[in-house]
Amino acid sequence: MDLVEIKGLTKIYGSRKAVDNVSFTIEKGEAFGLLGPNGAGKTTLVSMLSCLLKPTSGDAFIDGASITRDPMEVKKKIGVVPQEISLYGQLTALENLNFWAQMYDVPPRERAKRIESLLELVGLADRKRDRIDRYSGGMKRRINIVVGLLPNPELLILDEPTVGVDPQSRTAILETLKRLNQEGLTILYTSHYMEEVEFLCPRVGIMDLGKIIALGTQGELRLLVGEKDSLRIYTQTLIPMNIKEEIAQIEGVSEVRIGENFIGVLSSRGRRTLPAILDLLHDREVKVKSVEIKEPNLENVFLHLTGKELRE
Ligand SMILES: Nc1ncnc2c1ncn2[C@@H]1O[C@H](COP(=O)(O)OP(=O)(O)O)[C@@H](O)[C@H]1O
Ligand SMILES: [Mg+2]
Repeated sequence: MDLVEIKGLTKIYGSRKAVDNVSFTIEKGEAFGLLGPNGAGKTTLVSMLSCLLKPTSGDAFIDGASITRDPMEVKKKIGVVPQEISLYGQLTALENLNFWAQMYDVPPRERAKRIESLLELVGLADRKRDRIDRYSGGMKRRINIVVGLLPNPELLILDEPTVGVDPQSRTAILETLKRLNQEGLTILYTSHYMEEVEFLCPRVGIMDLGKIIALGTQGELRLLVGEKDSLRIYTQTLIPMNIKEEIAQIEGVSEVRIGENFIGVLSSRGRRTLPAILDLLHDREVKVKSVEIKEPNLENVFLHLTGKELRE
């Protein structure tokens, strides 16, 4: 059964289509990933789904309720974790959560228990009486997620919930979400971090310039780049600027990107291309530290479809 049904959703600002005729569905119980770079339109899309922003045209249905005609009904079914942290610094975590529980009409008799069990879930029960402005970025994010879970939603919408978070909190957040999903919670997760979406979301929509440019299971998306290998060559020395063009000319190479300390190459015949690349690097006196050959990832899919990096 589809819990979310998005039909031709569009948001226009002046002459810019922030969200451009987006349609897709999310099944009950799924963890669906919306992957796209900054400015793709992710926040605009989820703000419309959360009834915080009116669409220019199109509609979406959450468990059958229309976001344009029945926002009150929609709001009962969703929990939202916004990109911006929505907590009061001068209040303790517990005070913040009590405030939000009231806002969400959590029945008074259930409040304390629900707050306590969600604090346990994110590992912050012992810090609940600390003021939020004493919390680290990662801890604030975890409380923000608790806020999204307070109304006991059928669908949890998270908008880049790990931005500004230390690696340890990030892992904790993702593992918590995975567990909640395994227990039946439907999740819509937006991110510009490929690794997060790869970890949490079996089905993914890739968004760029307001449009969904590809959608499918991770396996289906990887097939879009074809039967290719993703090579990653880590270097010890600086990578010369013009090496990109030279590598691109090697037979079989379809895409090249230069990272800080690595060269990423997508090649139809990875294992055969590699020696030619290594020869070239040797000639240019680039010292190679290590080499990886992998199946293409979602980052490669994005590069393949748009010619751009997910993260600029
Ligand atoms: N209130 C607004 N007024 C005008 N343009 C906006 C507004 N909100 C977002 N945009 C534009 O819409 C596009 C999509 O933005 P956004 O949804 O925030 O993308 P993302 O969340 O993927 O980074 C961007 O080009 C952004 O500048
Ligand atoms: Mg955003």
